[in-house]
Amino acid sequence: MDEELLSLKGEVQLKTNWSTGYTTPGLRYRPRRLRASKVIRDLVAESRLYPGDFVLPLFIKEGIREKRPMKSLEGHYYLPTNGDDLINYIQTAMDLKVKSFLLFGVTSIRNRMALKAYDRDGPVQVALKHIRNELGWEPLLFTDLCMCGYTDHGHCGVIRETRRGMQVDNDETLKVYARIAVSQAEAGSDFIAPSGMMDGQVAAIRDALDSNGFSDVGIMAYATKYASSFYGPFRDVVDSAPRFGDRRGYQMDPRNKFEALKEAAIDIEEGADIIMVKPALAYLDIISLVKAHYPFVPLAAYNVSGEYSMIKVASREGIIDGRLAQLEVLTAIKRAGADIIITYSAMEVAEVLRNGYTPF
Ligand code: PBG
Repeated sequence: MDEELLSLKGEVQLKTNWSTGYTTPGLRYRPRRLRASKVIRDLVAESRLYPGDFVLPLFIKEGIREKRPMKSLEGHYYLPTNGDDLINYIQTAMDLKVKSFLLFGVTSIRNRMALKAYDRDGPVQVALKHIRNELGWEPLLFTDLCMCGYTDHGHCGVIRETRRGMQVDNDETLKVYARIAVSQAEAGSDFIAPSGMMDGQVAAIRDALDSNGFSDVGIMAYATKYASSFYGPFRDVVDSAPRFGDRRGYQMDPRNKFEALKEAAIDIEEGADIIMVKPALAYLDIISLVKAHYPFVPLAAYNVSGEYSMIKVASREGIIDGRLAQLEVLTAIKRAGADIIITYSAMEVAEVLRNGYTPF
């Protein structure tokens, strides 16, 4: 060690590099001291996970009376629109301190206009009423708003023949979205979560909610939703893959980063209470960028079905420790800047986190 350093005898020693202007702890400084034991690592950890960070997706299926396991989404079930299986499942999550849920509907009655998405007797509407009757307003209920699981063609909006071929008609779709939003609010939704990526969807929904007496119902906007292969298991479960074409005409191009700021700006301007980045894992840079630009807007990240399943499959093959890998992924999403994480692993991870345990 050089003489100048030794002469400091244990005082905190800062060195300024005059060319960069950065001040760093000097050569005596040893970062490993802060990694020496689990207690000190927990004490200085910059990001932490809590069960209260999570939103658990639920799939409500018409025409069943008991929960049914889903093949493409390990550990998850189709839940009935009412009855014990639905209520017990939610209660189990709440006992683990996971109290926020995102509801998706699964119906076999599909048509061009997605009738079952805004029907009073649609799967999501029936389940909402039942949950409110049984559990009151403690569970926080988000409802996905889209048409793809309810249309016979599998697209997220109303389709129309145009000079460019069959296309999703943006403004006709907004009229249907407004109806879906009002019906979900009426049935007891706390936050509407539009996932169709139509232009103007947040404004259209805000308008519809306010003019129907639901100004207390919020909007979690899928502001930056990318056209992604990681939705595979979800589309299988909900049977919502488009029957022709793809979603690249409305979902974002994975090559774009700054476009995410434009999408976020528009949704905030239109009145979104919470904005979202989706998927999460391959889009940590987007989470980080959006949070840096809009720190005052709560940011959700959707750890989607393909991301969850990759870890499940690798874990089953014995290639990785699935539980630790999932905790690492969720921590990374939090570290990147997400305030809220929508994840299929909410219950498993909440179980691990019980009693403040962390694996790091
Ligand atoms: C519907 C919707 C999708 C997901 C959530 N809402 C699928 C899609 O856009 O094709 C994907 C969720 C997941 O993969 O976990 N628009």
